[in-house]
Amino acid sequence: MEVRADYLVLGSGIAGLSFALKAAEHGRVLVVTKKERAESNTNYAQGGIAAVLSPDDSFELHVEDTLKAGAGLCHRDAVELVVREGPRMVRELMEWGVEFTKRRVGDREELALGREGGHSRDRIVYASDLTGREIERALLERVKEHGNIEVLENHIAIDLITEHHVFGVKGVPKGHITCWGAYVLDTKSGLVKKLLAKVVLLATGGTGRVYLHTTNPKIATGDGIAMVYRAGGKVGNLEFMQFHPTALYRPDADPDEPAFLISEAVRGYGGVLVNRKGEAFMEKYHPMGSLAPRDIVARAIDQEIKRSGEPCVYLDVTHKDPDETRARFPNIYSRCLDVGIDMTEEPIPVVPAAHYMCGGVVTDLWGRTSIRNLYATGEVALTGVHGANRLASNSLLEALVFSDRAFRDSLARAREPDDFPEVPDWSEENVFNAEEWVLLSHDREEIRRLMWDYVGIVRSNYRLQRALRRIRLIAKEVEEFYRRTKVTVDLIELRNLAQVAELIVRCALARKESRGLHYNTDYPEPNPRYQRDTVLQKRP
Ligand code: FAD
Ligand code: SIN
Repeated sequence: MEVRADYLVLGSGIAGLSFALKAAEHGRVLVVTKKERAESNTNYAQGGIAAVLSPDDSFELHVEDTLKAGAGLCHRDAVELVVREGPRMVRELMEWGVEFTKRRVGDREELALGREGGHSRDRIVYASDLTGREIERALLERVKEHGNIEVLENHIAIDLITEHHVFGVKGVPKGHITCWGAYVLDTKSGLVKKLLAKVVLLATGGTGRVYLHTTNPKIATGDGIAMVYRAGGKVGNLEFMQFHPTALYRPDADPDEPAFLISEAVRGYGGVLVNRKGEAFMEKYHPMGSLAPRDIVARAIDQEIKRSGEPCVYLDVTHKDPDETRARFPNIYSRCLDVGIDMTEEPIPVVPAAHYMCGGVVTDLWGRTSIRNLYATGEVALTGVHGANRLASNSLLEALVFSDRAFRDSLARAREPDDFPEVPDWSEENVFNAEEWVLLSHDREEIRRLMWDYVGIVRSNYRLQRALRRIRLIAKEVEEFYRRTKVTVDLIELRNLAQVAELIVRCALARKESRGLHYNTDYPEPNPRYQRDTVLQKRP
């Protein structure tokens, strides 16, 4: 089955939907999303969106905070561009119907602004502690009203359609790879569809599920990065997986479910990290204490846990007014209460968990990837904004800014006439229905455990090499299985997880220094030789 459109958008988080709403004014848009339409990292975002909106703040300060957190690897041009667009992006979201939390100042209302780690000013716009859910709600409502957008739920992209699927393509310059669409599995019917478009936006989000403990929902399996790498495009900086310092600690946690996040906004509000004896420990590690940049806080917690032998540390807000705490964090309060913790009366047990992929598919300042007609925005992209460690709440902002730029850049292409080559149908001849599904779940668990144990907050050459050997073995097995078997969601995701895990380890091994989120005990200091991105591309 073949479907044609002007734009194909893979992913229905903030990056995909904000692009789709703009593109739909100029052509037919297909949005493909692998589960129910709201299921995305976006939907789980708590803290908010960073933007310069207060008179005591400035673009320069937001730029400086971002560069400082990024530990020498941010691209200043990308950072400046994103920061300067912040206020416009927040206004645009409000025009789309997003209701941010307001506060009363005298007789007027203005946007309430919170503080998070690494920020020198209050600049986080939020919707209570459910910012992402509010954004998804508003964007999906607008999408539903738009006659030019069709959302295909329960459709998972398997691979991008590029030259190597197509024979005898005329008019394509040598040395360029071109994307014409994607093969997509309709998970309800089992049919693999051929979706062709003049412009393809990759907005498939993050890779948190490659680790055993993560705040990311099940969709975050790194599909976009794996697809681009397989197609011969450039990916990079995958060694920079950000571990959020404060996920709720549960001794009986089910790693199949996302770890519940205790937002950094709780520390911005006055929460203090303490050990079991109630002693605050962050001042030992950084002058910003509990509000230091995330890489530093996560490493400090890791050290405290290892040193004390305790399973977690604690986040204490019991000194704050209980009514105010309940009003500011209703969702966090009630989720903690569900597991028997009243955060107004006792400290919350917390541990770090994999949270955000700072690297991704390499793009330029217009969201263009190294593959023609393929754009990448949002968490899947490496735009240069986050460097070696993302500043809190810069991710939703980056997604909005680059989706806007990708939309503007792609307009000319979308207006060209159809020039799709003959693309073969998906073939499942000579494949069988697998009966060994249990092996797949074992492989998935083994990858996630290996990554957690060997490629986590603190790394070493020995651990990385050991991880690489094992992951390569699993990846090879999975690839063989994939070639012989009818595709399913589990198999597609496992293939991508194995691919991305291998790429993360290769990036980590290539960086022979410690910087930002990448800490290797064999090279504990930064080395100016490595003040550059790690870029990987498959050999032709
Ligand atoms: P996502 O929102 O993850 O959307 C990805 C989409 O792609 C999904 O619809 C998914 O189903 C789809 N998809 C994936 N693979 C395929 C495939 N193969 N085929 C079809 N569809 C596919 N950032 C902030 O700036 N501020 C915050 O306060 C904040 N809080 C966070 C809290 C949590 C718990 C988490 C997990 C993240 C948080 N982040 C925050 C990070 C931020 O939410 C994400 O980086 C951002 O939402 C990513 O948006 P996105 O559109 O790129 O991807
Ligand atoms: C949080 O609320 O702590 C998450 C913010 C972010 O990931 O940017």
